[in-house]
Amino acid sequence: MQLTLTSALETGVKQVDDEHRVLITELNKLGDMLKADHIDVAAAQAFMTFLGTYTAKHFAHEEKCMHEARCPMATANKAAHTQFIHMFVSAKLRIGAGASMIKLRDLHTSLYQWVQSHIMKIDTGLRGCSAHHGAAR
Ligand SMILES: [Fe+2]
Repeated sequence: MQLTLTSALETGVKQVDDEHRVLITELNKLGDMLKADHIDVAAAQAFMTFLGTYTAKHFAHEEKCMHEARCPMATANKAAHTQFIHMFVSAKLRIGAGASMIKLRDLHTSLYQWVQSHIMKIDTGLRGCSAHHGAAR
């Protein structure tokens, strides 16, 4: 499974789109890593550390953009980010208790589905707002 930031997934805010590209690239790298026969525990741990740090920074930035743009999706976006954080924390606990290909593949599938659906249904709500309220920065 490889995800691409197609025009259907663009928000119209360059920095948000660039951050989504970084997330998708790392998610695709995890997918590539899971094609191997054996788990690379250090790489899996590095991915989890990256994901926790990067999503915290990205969510804060994106929420600020939506707030400033008075985007109608702002509340739904915050709620979805909170839901993601719960999902990520529980996955981190499961994987921390012993990394396995099954756990990482489950996580990859959940992340892939969440990211694609979230960007498409919520983040793209920025599209109609960004041009008028100065969110494109
Ligand atoms: Fe979002």
